[in-house]
Amino acid sequence: MSTPDSKLTQTLAALGISSAEQVQSLFAEFRARFDSQTTRVIDENSWKTLRDAWLGRKSGVLTLVTDNWLKPATPELKRAVGASLNELRKHVDTQIAARRSAVEAGAEATASAKDRVDLSLPGVMRPIGSHHLIRTVFQEIEDIFFSIGFSVVEGPEIETPYYNFEALNIPEHHSVRDDMDTFYLELPKGAPGPLLLRTHTSPVQIHTMEKRQPPVRVIVPGKVYRRDNPDATHSFMFHQIEGLAVDSDITFCDFTGTIDYFVKQFFGEGVKTRFRPSYFPFTEPSVEFDASCVFCGGSGTAKTGGTCGKCKGSGWIELFGAGMVDPAVYGFVNYDPKKVSGFAFGIGIDRLAMLKYGIDDIQVFFQNDVRFLRQFP
Ligand code: FA5
Repeated sequence: MSTPDSKLTQTLAALGISSAEQVQSLFAEFRARFDSQTTRVIDENSWKTLRDAWLGRKSGVLTLVTDNWLKPATPELKRAVGASLNELRKHVDTQIAARRSAVEAGAEATASAKDRVDLSLPGVMRPIGSHHLIRTVFQEIEDIFFSIGFSVVEGPEIETPYYNFEALNIPEHHSVRDDMDTFYLELPKGAPGPLLLRTHTSPVQIHTMEKRQPPVRVIVPGKVYRRDNPDATHSFMFHQIEGLAVDSDITFCDFTGTIDYFVKQFFGEGVKTRFRPSYFPFTEPSVEFDASCVFCGGSGTAKTGGTCGKCKGSGWIELFGAGMVDPAVYGFVNYDPKKVSGFAFGIGIDRLAMLKYGIDDIQVFFQNDVRFLRQFP
């Protein structure tokens, strides 16, 4: 019989798990195990041991579950595993934060008694930080794409013009470069260059395809930089998630279906999507995706009457750019354009977070005002 630990190093298939019910009972077993371990947390050390055992990046339980159960799961089981994993992750996060508060409160009481401090004085509250809203939105988006078989890759924020532009089919004097003006690094004399802060996460498409053969299904979260003047919707540093799927038979329908699934999971079932023709040198055809306005429900009329200020009465809000990977890009990574096809998208996270959480100025993300941050614990 497998012990709980040995189950973590095996795939669901190896554990003989083939139905959603079996998945749920396996997760219930691990949740009960976690709950019993939390009762043994009595001080800072035992709290750290619990946290590392479950949330440790390399070999914590949740990492092993993601690597060994979720990623290799069959398409039929992936959704059930994704949902149960999300539930378990939320439970673990909440309980670990709660145990930390309890331990801190206990430690303070002991110290006070030792130092004979006047216990009638009010205690010291040490506020616990929380994820920034941008981090939370990254996590929400990653979880949605995990549930349909994508994995996360990352790439460098400092790039060569080759990866940021040329390999994406943007040659030196292409006008698209004007819209992506950026920060070039000052390099020591004689150093190979030039180097620049990446203007989008799309260069990681190239890094990924250089390293992997199809099928490729990845998302790429990260920071990007542009010489844009700050205003309510522009920042010179912002966040994107790139998506790339390449395989032998990916069609435009797979592309629109994936995006529709993502938007409905993220904003809710009631949201409709549409796409309009657009232009990116590295996708063909290229589109912009719109979602029906989440503020007025797509009617164009504000709930309080009058024209909806968010969609300016159109009922639609522009979300992000995307398209089928241009065959010219495959030439840069030695893929055979006759044998593979795929799609890519690039989502501006800050603007997506603004839409979902009703924030009307992008700058609040970067001002670190706790009155704003506290609204998203
Ligand atoms: C791109 O960056 C393309 N790389 C996206 C793409 C990827 C297209 C893959 C096709 C295939 P664009 O320049 O439109 O496209 O930027 C993408 C998103 O970033 C925009 O929709 C917007 O949400 C966000 N964005 C752009 N500039 C800023 C800015 N200065 N501040 C905040 N968000 C921005």
